[in-house]
Amino acid sequence: MILSLRNVSYSYPDGTPALRDVNLEVRSGEIAFVLGPNGSGKTTLLLLMAGLLTPTEGGVTFYGKPLGNWFRKHCGILFQDPRDQLLAPTVWEDVALAPKQLGLDEGEVMSRVEEALRFFGIEDLASKSPLRLSRGQAAKVILAGLLAHDPEVLLLDEPWSSLDAEGTEHLLELIKLFKERNRIVVISSQNSDMAAEISDTVHILKNGELVMSGLASDLLVRVEELREIGIRPPLVPSVSRMIFPADPPVLRFEDLLDRLERTNSRSSRP
Ligand SMILES: Nc1ncnc2c1ncn2[C@@H]1O[C@H](COP(=O)(O)OP(=O)(O)OP(=O)(O)O)[C@@H](O)[C@H]1O
Ligand SMILES: [Mg+2]
Repeated sequence: MILSLRNVSYSYPDGTPALRDVNLEVRSGEIAFVLGPNGSGKTTLLLLMAGLLTPTEGGVTFYGKPLGNWFRKHCGILFQDPRDQLLAPTVWEDVALAPKQLGLDEGEVMSRVEEALRFFGIEDLASKSPLRLSRGQAAKVILAGLLAHDPEVLLLDEPWSSLDAEGTEHLLELIKLFKERNRIVVISSQNSDMAAEISDTVHILKNGELVMSGLASDLLVRVEELREIGIRPPLVPSVSRMIFPADPPVLRFEDLLDRLERTNSRSSRP
């Protein structure tokens, strides 16, 4: 399965150009990160990938087929402000919305909702009105709904911005679960450390243009270039650059430790 954008441009109805000539593909089993400064077009890109916005030019396809209403059941999204997307009178009913729309029988809906509420530790919110939730709680409710939905494409817009430590861990588990199930996961984030930890590919936007696109291991170590674009580079490559300025920086903590150990053993040799 491939989610593909070809020559996609998008301008908002007031004339603001938000994206220009974007080409990218995300494949099954891939965790893709979209990075970029404020206003660079990350949210717009995710809304186009969800089929909630239609490109002004170019096209978005899933499995070669242009997005349309049919795509709804295959795609789930967490909005940047999840309080904008809670619709049902209670949390329980909100989490049950997608499984019901999929036409699952009552028993399966019940078990999916209960499992999803348990997964995010929010069983106690089940009968609460979604209008009375904090932003972090609302995010957990939407994420529980996405787990109950189990779509082929999962889109998360700044998912860590309001989650506590436990919520962050549960979300990481959810993302890993989707990867194991060979789903497509696209995450917009300012958090390049999280990208360094879990992403396969990275797409970097600046002023509505895709300025870098490729493997995380290639792009996230380009510390100076990232800074120039306005992205805070991940910690490990930044530290690696400081300690070993002559060597190509490493992305992961284990690799940095490895390099430090090798350097130490070389320098302590008689
Ligand atoms: N509804 C809208 N109407 C008009 N312009 C919009 C609208 N939503 C966003 N924009 C503009 O489109 C551009 C891209 O915005 P977008 O929200 O996609 O950026 P972003 O990268 O998600 O930013 P942030 O990091 O702040 O979430 C910005 O210039 C923004 O002002
Ligand atoms: Mg945004």
